[in-house]
Amino acid sequence: MTDHPILPEKSRLLFLGPPGAGKGTQAELLASRRSLLHLSTGELLRAEVSAGSDLGLQAQEIMARGELVSDDLVLAIVRQRLEHHKGGWVLDGFPRTLTQAEALDSLLEQLGQQIELVLLLELDDSALLQRLLGRGRDDDTEEVILNRLEVYRERTSPLVAHYRQRGLLIPVEATGTVETIADRIEGLLR
Ligand code: AP5
Repeated sequence: MTDHPILPEKSRLLFLGPPGAGKGTQAELLASRRSLLHLSTGELLRAEVSAGSDLGLQAQEIMARGELVSDDLVLAIVRQRLEHHKGGWVLDGFPRTLTQAEALDSLLEQLGQQIELVLLLELDDSALLQRLLGRGRDDDTEEVILNRLEVYRERTSPLVAHYRQRGLLIPVEATGTVETIADRIEGLLR
């Protein structure tokens, strides 16, 4: 027995949820436990900004305001990573619009892959705000956080119904410590 057995076959998952719900934290843990690729579009975009690439220059101001970077830019980043990766993956922060979800479906169809599960992290706004203000990333000012929440509600939350209809959605209560939530997720996946 290993400490982290490879639990059921699920190896292509998405994390969905509002900013600060813990998508990045839990996606990284789950990916490392199951030896999956962790793909965070937020992290990839921040790396482009730090590198001062053309893409980073285009994304920088949009991210600073808490708006969404264009679907085309994000899709190009994801396509590049997924089309050369044969194994499983955990996506975090993507898809974030219905257009991105549809583009992901057609990319996966080309690759002969499919989404097996969507984990929806749920947490109330005051807890989200508290977590993000405590972190202090450039886009973690109160004004920008509130805009990110608004953008989540308008552009991303329709994905909840989209994946629920397909029978892929599992809601996860995102309260408690990082370890408590990770255990809750493992429990739901068994
Ligand atoms: P992104 O980086 O994806 O930001 P986000 O969705 O706003 O998510 P966060 O990173 O703020 O929260 P999270 O849910 O991942 O929580 P985390 O684990 O970090 O995107 C940033 C920007 O990039 C977007 O605004 C947009 O401009 C652009 N972008 C990215 N993807 C895009 C896309 N697909 N399309 C278009 N644009 C895109 O945790 C948050 C904090 O809480 C951390 O400090 C963490 O340590 C702490 N924490 C986590 N869990 C717990 C816990 N259980 N208890 C206490 N603290 C906790």
